[in-house]
Amino acid sequence: MPRSDCETVTLDAPDQQSALHAPAAKTARDSDVVIRVRDVTVAFDGKKVLDGLSLDVRRGEILGFVGPSGAGKSVLLRTILGLNPKQSGTIEVFGIDYHGASDREKLSVERRWGVLFQHGALFSSLTVRENIEVPMKEYLDLSPKLMGELARLKIDLVGLAPDAADKYPSELSGGMIKRAALARALALDPEIVFLDEPTSGLDPIGAADFDQLIMTLRDTLGLSVYMVTHDLDSLFQACDRIAVLGDKKVLVEGPLSKMLSYDHPWVKSYFHGKRARTVVLPDQDPAPSPKKTAGAA
Ligand SMILES: Nc1ncnc2c1ncn2[C@@H]1O[C@H](COP(=O)(O)OP(=O)(O)OP(=O)(O)O)[C@@H](O)[C@H]1O
Ligand SMILES: [Mg+2]
Repeated sequence: MPRSDCETVTLDAPDQQSALHAPAAKTARDSDVVIRVRDVTVAFDGKKVLDGLSLDVRRGEILGFVGPSGAGKSVLLRTILGLNPKQSGTIEVFGIDYHGASDREKLSVERRWGVLFQHGALFSSLTVRENIEVPMKEYLDLSPKLMGELARLKIDLVGLAPDAADKYPSELSGGMIKRAALARALALDPEIVFLDEPTSGLDPIGAADFDQLIMTLRDTLGLSVYMVTHDLDSLFQACDRIAVLGDKKVLVEGPLSKMLSYDHPWVKSYFHGKRARTVVLPDQDPAPSPKKTAGAA
């Protein structure tokens, strides 16, 4: 979905224009929201990492989630996935309170999401094809032949060569591992994919290709994408909206233009810092960036 469309679908009336500067919770229609996080607090050994955090992810958007290292981005992702307990608050995925759901409901939600964890997390003893088949074996009842065929389709979808199917993770480059992990995240034809730092460790061109792939999947499959990233190029080129984590909650969420005008020391230094100026900022002369040409939205 193009950025401009993403903004217009969420606004019903002119008087809602001002809502662009209110939390997304107040602007998105219920049917547009695929993940709804409200007042979530997560603590480890009594120490709060997230404190009253609220966030929406809307259908068909790429939401970029940023914040300082150690701020709790991965903790929130793991909490949404039910891998971390929360102390309070609610999290709904597809309108279902996942944490309080029955096993049957949980399965139905898990069947509709895919995850690419921060460190790839492919099984090293399995080939790429076998890795992609893992979720299929867990959630579907398919013949080995059909699983193999589906796995090969996913390999093709993420732009890997067919011979990657029989390779082990140790035989792949970093970029190929990311693509293989994405293929596994897409194994069940999910409606939401969670990506934790998908482009970290990739060269700029490989990262731009990855961004382009995510945008293509959003546009062709209607995927909703929750992407934790430090990659300014990804934020500038691929994301429809951005949410910034700071002080244990979402400081600001909205389109890039809102980030650029937001008055907060970390947000300012992140979006206007030296590194930000090396990628294209609206209203600025574009500086050459290897990612710009390949990753333009
Ligand atoms: N299972 C856990 N037990 C105790 N503390 C944890 C646990 N998981 C995360 N933390 C702590 O929560 C804080 C946030 O960690 P998190 O991994 O979410 O950071 P992050 O924002 O993803 O950082 P980065 O950008 O470096 O990946 C850190 O202080 C971390 O040590
Ligand atoms: Mg992290």
